[in-house]
Amino acid sequence: MSPNNHSSALKESLSHACSDIEQTIDSLLPMVPGDDAILLEAMRYAALGGGKRLRGFLAVEVASLFGASRQSALRVAASVEFLHAYSLVHDDLPSMDDDDLRRGRPSTHRQFNEAIAILAGDALQTSAFEVLLDPETHSDPLIRANLALALAKASGSAGMVGGQVIDIQGEGRALPLNEVRRLHAMKTGALIRYSAEAGAILAGVTDERRDAIISYGNNLGTAFQVADDVLDSTASAEELGKTAGKDEANGKSTYVSLLGIDGAKAEARRLSEQARDALSSFNEKANTLRALADYVVERRN
Ligand code: IPE
Ligand code: IPE
Ligand code: MG
Ligand code: MG
Ligand code: MG
Repeated sequence: MSPNNHSSALKESLSHACSDIEQTIDSLLPMVPGDDAILLEAMRYAALGGGKRLRGFLAVEVASLFGASRQSALRVAASVEFLHAYSLVHDDLPSMDDDDLRRGRPSTHRQFNEAIAILAGDALQTSAFEVLLDPETHSDPLIRANLALALAKASGSAGMVGGQVIDIQGEGRALPLNEVRRLHAMKTGALIRYSAEAGAILAGVTDERRDAIISYGNNLGTAFQVADDVLDSTASAEELGKTAGKDEANGKSTYVSLLGIDGAKAEARRLSEQARDALSSFNEKANTLRALADYVVERRN
C-alpha cells in the first residue's frame, strides 16, 4: 500500500471508531433528573462534543490487531476518554493553565462554574474506573483488575498527575531538556501508552507482544506532546479549538522553548519513527498503527 492509502485507511478507521466511541460515551452518561443533574450535564459537556479520540482509537485499534472483542474495546475506549476529559477540565482551570477555550467551545469551568468543573472532572475520573471494573467490560475479573491497575499507574502520581505537577512547578523557569522529556512522558505519554496497552491487556497477549505495544505507545505519546508544543506556537486558535501561544504566555518549558520550532519538529519525527520501529515484528495488520505514528506529528490540531 502507498503512504497515501495508509492515511486514507487511517482516516476511515478513525472516523468509524470516533462515532462508535461517542455512542458508547453517550450511553454510559445518561441524564438523571434532580438537583445533581448539572453534574451529568457538565460531564457530558466535557466528554462529548469534540476531541480527536486518539486514546480511545488506540485501545480499539490494538484490541482489533489482537482479535479482542470490539464491544469490550469500545468500553475501554470510553473509559480512557473519560479519564482524558477529566484531565483537560482540570488542566484548563484558573489555578492551572487558566484556559477559556477547549474543543472550540468555552472550557467547562467557563460554561458552568469552577466548583462544577472540578466535581465533573472528579466524577469522570471515578467513572473511568467504574466502567473498566464492570463485568460488562470483560468476563474475566483478572483482566478487569489489570486494566484498572494499568490505568491507575498511568494517570496517578507516577503518570499524568505527576507530570502536571512538574509542568506547573516549572512555570517561569527553564527546565533542563531531560526534565522536559520526563514531564512529557508522564503528563501525556503515560495515558497514551496505557491506551495502546489496554488493547493488549484485553486480548491477553504474550509479554513480548505487550512490551512491543508499550514501547510503541510510549514513543507515540511523547511524540504527540512534542507536536502539541509545536502546534501551540505555530497553529491558530481556530485550527486548534484552544488558545494558541499559551505555553509561552504561561512561561512553560517545552520542546519549542528549549530546541526551537525546527528542533522540536525533528524530535517529534524521531520519536514517531521510534514508535514505528517498535512495531517491526508485526505484519501489515499493524499498518493503521504505523500510519497513526505519522499522523500524530503531521496533524494540524
Ligand atoms: C490535549 O489532548 C492535551 C494533551 C495531552 C496535549 P488532545 O489533543 O488529544 O485533545 P482532544 O481530545 O483531541 O481534544
Ligand atoms: C496537558 O498538556 C496535558 C494533560 C494532562 C491535560 P497541555 O496543557 O499542553 O494541553 P493543552 O495544550 O492545554 O491541550
Ligand atoms: Mg497544561
Ligand atoms: Mg493546557
Ligand atoms: Mg499544549
